Order: sequence, then structure tokens, then C-alpha cells
Amino acid sequence: MMRSNLKKFKIKSKTPLAVDDFIEKILYEPKVGYYSSKDPFGKNGDFITSPTISNLFSEIIGIWLISAWEKMGKPKIFNFVELGPGDGSLTKVIISTLKKFPEFNKAIKIYLYEKSLFLKKIQRQNISNKRIKWIKNFNPIKKGPVIFFGNEFFDAIPIKQFSNINNELFEKCYSVENNIDIIEKFRRASKKDKAQIKTFETLKKLKFVEFPKKGLIELNPIIKKINKLSGGILLIDYGYLNYNNSNTIQSVMGNKKISAETMLKNLGKSDITSLVNFNLLKEYFLKNNLKVKKVVTQRFFLERMGIIERAQILEKKMTNEKQKYMKETLSRLLEEKQMGSLFKVIFGYKNKNNNFFGFE
Ligand SMILES: C[S@@+](CC[C@H](N)C(=O)[O-])C[C@H]1O[C@@H](n2cnc3c(N)ncnc32)[C@H](O)[C@@H]1O
Repeated sequence: MMRSNLKKFKIKSKTPLAVDDFIEKILYEPKVGYYSSKDPFGKNGDFITSPTISNLFSEIIGIWLISAWEKMGKPKIFNFVELGPGDGSLTKVIISTLKKFPEFNKAIKIYLYEKSLFLKKIQRQNISNKRIKWIKNFNPIKKGPVIFFGNEFFDAIPIKQFSNINNELFEKCYSVENNIDIIEKFRRASKKDKAQIKTFETLKKLKFVEFPKKGLIELNPIIKKINKLSGGILLIDYGYLNYNNSNTIQSVMGNKKISAETMLKNLGKSDITSLVNFNLLKEYFLKNNLKVKKVVTQRFFLERMGIIERAQILEKKMTNEKQKYMKETLSRLLEEKQMGSLFKVIFGYKNKNNNFFGFE
């Protein structure tokens, strides 16, 4: 049993809450949830992400977008949606990169899809550009191919967890008593969840199942849009290809990983994520009629997109101090033990062309 003040997250019930519903409240409850009340990014926050440490990363994503537009035959209207833009760092750099590519700049329509009102405000402050539209759904995108992009978007959407005991699935839940005591419980999985989990080859025969039900619900309208208009979804996330039945939910506070115990004692003060199952994503895209490029590591993708050559060009015009910072961040993005291989890249798409850069 753990103690934490839960009244403010509107969690009072004695009825056990599934892990994903519980974490959802802690992260996104309006005004008080972690992402609804705190700017978590950067050295003074709780964690850093590629766009918040390196403009080079965002520039490369911009270059990849231009290459995707070219591969699709330079359509006159080309939609770009950033999923979960955080503090807006990536789109800010993309907008300035675009200025050097007038034909593409004319074609691109930029949309930001963000759940947290608090972060939306920060995004509006950081990128004041009239061309950007914040959207709550994808209905405004009606013409032209669409590329969705998310960096650490999918890992921020809470997952469900199940134990498989003698071929029966039991869902992990938290029960809250007296507004303060958190008790871990397992209950029989719902018929609907069991049936959906069964459809995934990737999840068969596991002793401990992690299932991103909410994430897949988020993907449904995205996949529908891609199937209708053509285009694709590029996701970069901390995740795996081989799963070892472990609990991958993790929490960081002040740029340090904290234990599950500390997390439960500090609800609302730390970020909570889980590792992304890239094989499951691949299976889901394929099931829904998208084609999928080979899943690659962040290092592979960024190197194929020419990040090292770009850094060498930029370096020539930099002060020693800036050179040093760029080298440090570059190795953070690329080194195997840092983000280089822990982070993976997946591209699900619908298009006649299969030759998108970055994966071969
Ligand atoms: C870990 S942050 C990553 C931010 C940014 N992409 C970056 O790399 O710096 C996750 C982002 O996704 C947003 N987010 C999470 N779930 C979402 C959802 N269901 N719909 C829209 N945005 C969501 C969060 O509010 C936050 O902006």
C-alpha cells in the first residue's frame, strides 16, 4: 500500500481503476495533472527530449518532410500534423527551415494536435505564426496527403497491463481508499479487451501483457485519414522490438529515473511513460492497410538523413562553445547507450512510392 493525496485528481472511488485510467488522471486531469500544470521539458524540468535539446534533430525531421513531399510527387497541398508537440520546439525549427524551400513552404499546411491546455499555451508563446492551426481532431484536413509526426507522443499515452495466469488474463488496477491509500489489485480482464488482445500475434503467449488500448484509439482516426488522403505516420519513441514480459512503466523527476514507490508517493510531480512495443505498432498498421518501413533505430534514421554531414557544415560557423554543445547533444542523440538505439523509428504509410528516406 502506498500513500498519496488523490483528491485533487478526482480519484476517490473504491472501485479499482485500470492502470491506464489511473495514469491518465494523474497526467492529464485538467489544471492539476502533470501535463496540465507543469512545463516538464529541459534541464530545469524533469526530462529532455530530442527537439528540446537539439535544433539539428528538428531540422532533420524538416528535411525528411521535404523529401517525403518530393517522393509523393510534390503535391500542391501537403498537410503536416505534429502529434503532442510539447513546448513547440520542433515545429518552431521546421518553420524556419521551410523558408529556404519556397515551393514546399507554399504547399505545407501545419497543424498541432495537443491534449494539454497548459502546453498549448506554451506552444502559442513559443511559435507565433499565423499559419499554424491547433486542432482537436483531424476533420479540418480535407485535401492533400498528410504526414503525422510524433516524437515521444505514443509513450506518453497510458497503457493497460495484464497478468496471464493459467491462460486467463487479469488486469492490473489501483484501488484508492480514504483518498490517500493506493492498493494494487488484479481483476478479470473484460471480454472486449481479451478479444482485442487475442488478435495480436505480438501479444500471444506472454505472461505479462502490456496493451496500449488508449494509444490505438488515438491512432484510429489518424490511420483512417492516411487511408483516405494518402501520406503516413512517422513515430519516434523510446521502445523495443523484443519484449521480455517486464513492467515497462517508468517515471522520471528532475531528470532522474524514480522507483514505482516514489512515483506513487509523488503523483502529479513526475512524468509517467512506458516503453513502446514497435512490433505491435507494426502489426496494427499492417492490419489497417498501411505499409510499414523496417523499424530502425534513431541513430540509423538520423545518420541516413545526413545529420553528421549537416553538423559538420554548421560547425564551421560556430564558436567553440556552440561546437562543444552541438557535439554533446549529437552524441546524446546517436550513441547506442543513450538515445541512439533505445529510441526507434517507425513509418506507416499509404502511397505508390515506397522509397522514403531514412530506413534503408
Ligand atoms: C513526452 S511529451 C513529448 C513532447 C514533444 N513531442 C517533444 O518531443 O519534446 C508528450 C506530448 O504528447 C502530448 N499528448 C499526450 N497524449 C496526447 C493525446 N492523447 N493527444 C494529444 N496530445 C497528447 C503531451 O501533452 C505532450 O505534449
